[in-house]
Amino acid sequence: MPTAVWVTLLFPLSRKVNAAAQRQLGLLWHTSSVFFHPLIHEYAEKLSALLPEPLKVVFLVNSGSEANDLAMLMARAHSDSTDIISFRGAYHGCSPYTLGLTNVGIYKMDLPHGMGCQPTMCPDIFRGPWGGSHCRDSPVQTIRKCSCAPGPTEGEGGTWDCCQAKDQYIEQFKDTLSTSVAKSIAGFFAEPIQGVNGVVQYPKGFLKEAFELVRERGGVCIADEVQTGFGRLGSHFWGFQTHDVLPDIVTMAKGIGNGFPMAAVVTTPEIAKSLTKHLLHFNTFGGNPMACAIGSAVLEVIKEENLQENSQEVGTYMLLKLAKLRDEFEIVGDVRGKGLMIGIEMVKDKTFRIAPSMCITKPEADFAVEVFRSALIQHMERRAKLKF
Ligand SMILES: Cc1ncc(COP(=O)(O)O)c(C=O)c1O
Repeated sequence: MPTAVWVTLLFPLSRKVNAAAQRQLGLLWHTSSVFFHPLIHEYAEKLSALLPEPLKVVFLVNSGSEANDLAMLMARAHSDSTDIISFRGAYHGCSPYTLGLTNVGIYKMDLPHGMGCQPTMCPDIFRGPWGGSHCRDSPVQTIRKCSCAPGPTEGEGGTWDCCQAKDQYIEQFKDTLSTSVAKSIAGFFAEPIQGVNGVVQYPKGFLKEAFELVRERGGVCIADEVQTGFGRLGSHFWGFQTHDVLPDIVTMAKGIGNGFPMAAVVTTPEIAKSLTKHLLHFNTFGGNPMACAIGSAVLEVIKEENLQENSQEVGTYMLLKLAKLRDEFEIVGDVRGKGLMIGIEMVKDKTFRIAPSMCITKPEADFAVEVFRSALIQHMERRAKLKF
């Protein structure tokens, strides 16, 4: 189980977000979404403007688990099928419904759950059977040898467009489709980068092919952006954009409210409409005025303070510094990630996850790397003493 540095805060207490919360507290702090209030519309418009067409229908809820619950329901209502696939190592929540999608051992309860949920192999290019030194979208690659033939644009600044590891993992995905689910499926959930499992990145091109296979079976593709969204990955605002895919449903939480309990599901008008075949969706607190005022201020701060750009710059800087520790310490097996979502895999022990506030500066990153380095030195010294 990875050691986590928490990702809920995009920035420490921001004056702007705090002021928006205080102001709203004095005006109106609760009304359910059956009563229209301008803030809910303003916020839904602001949020949906950040997503590509046709992802324009916003449902506001209160937590990441609740957002994924609703996404599961939508996928099933839309497809008229039941089976949903998620990766081993995935974390999508701890509600009775999402526990079926979550495939991390310590969260698997010895109680009935997860009807219709099927795990599939996580295409982990460091731990898994296949992977090489070109596979992932990160400034730091694995030190595994790559058996791919050089791509036509390799070395010319172009993208790497052939990956044998990706092909092998896709075969495993096809195997799950042909052995473990019904002919028609409801959907496939994926975090663009696995958070709880230790910032695991898939080979480039994997999600694109997997999405095509899922759609061939009538399923919808759901991107869980609870950790990866809102600019944390630096190069893009949403994690799915780093895979060059367009999901049918996007779920988001944590950083969306900078720690305030709120979450969202964004989907297409067509999928949203399918839900009405089965139910009237209602949520007492989802989209409450406080959440909308805070969510709106968060989006403004991300833009005004260039937090996505900062994630890209400081995250890359920090990743490259941490990569040097891999050369220095045998127990640092892998350094990976993108922007300010960073994983360090200790080959004898655990994974460290680093997802700091997105306003972190380079001197703060230097300090954090130095603290981590000192801890490694102490650990190695203790180990050496134990040997004698
Ligand atoms: C990727 C991902 N999805 C969903 C969730 C569940 O969110 P919540 O704890 O708000 O229910 C989490 C929480 O850690 C998460 O990391």
